[in-house]
Amino acid sequence: MGRIAIVTGGTRGIGEAICVRLKEHGRTVIASYGGNDAAAQDFTERTGIATQKWDVGDHEQCQDAVAKIATDHGEVDILVNNAGITRDATLMKMTYEQWEEVLRVDLSGCFSMAKAAFPKMRERGWGRIVNVGSVNGQSGQIGQVNYAAAKSGIHGFTKSLAAEGARYGVTANAIAPGYIATDMLATIPDTVMEKIVAQIPMGRLGEPGEIARGVEFLTSDNAGWITGSTLSINGGMHMY
Ligand code: CAA
Repeated sequence: MGRIAIVTGGTRGIGEAICVRLKEHGRTVIASYGGNDAAAQDFTERTGIATQKWDVGDHEQCQDAVAKIATDHGEVDILVNNAGITRDATLMKMTYEQWEEVLRVDLSGCFSMAKAAFPKMRERGWGRIVNVGSVNGQSGQIGQVNYAAAKSGIHGFTKSLAAEGARYGVTANAIAPGYIATDMLATIPDTVMEKIVAQIPMGRLGEPGEIARGVEFLTSDNAGWITGSTLSINGGMHMY
């Protein structure tokens, strides 16, 4: 049996591509999802990958979920914090609820999942944590003070966790995707989408598989001396 990997938000979009890629590379994968039962069932039928439903924004549910996975499949070796939501609006129109909801799921979710999985990784002397940030956490974006704050927070979270895990063989890295062709782009008006694509030097959106390949590498034995880094995969949209 391969290393055990949890991918949050794993049944659709980038998460699905990560799950499939990790499975192809010998990992035993469990995909979490938050609400869409039909999509999760469809995902398992297509990929043969197990799913488990919980809210990553709920601290206790994260603890319970990781404990159940350890019992059912084995201790977790790899955690990919991929689950994320957007509630886009300019600051002028954004409600506190929109701010709070995105911070809870996108940023606190990473804390709660790492809190549940990291201790056993540390104890066993091997672990890989990959947190999915965003180009918009690096550069900022109109309509995303909530999302950009959460994703920017992920980058600081990752570096601090990397420093804590390094001496125990646990790495923590971030991936910062650019604009990827998934359902998440569905709410963006066409006129705005044109402006966004015009800002991508490669002239096109990314594909989920282009992110998944980076995650697979960072969770492999080959990446054992890489920690605290951010891998930007964004078609050249933001470079630094
Ligand atoms: N890039 C460039 N210009 C943008 C922009 C963007 N991302 N978002 C908004 N604008 C521009 C609009 O075109 C508009 O310009 P004009 O006044 O010249 O026409 C101006 O900003 C104001 O925007 P709206 O008129 O659209 O204002 P609104 O209140 O109706 O809607 C909004 C605001 C909800 C932010 C909407 O513009 C929007 O959805 N923008 C896209 C935001 C975005 O990029 N979200 C990323 C989602 S994908 C993701 O988050 C994944 C990831 O990690 C990359």
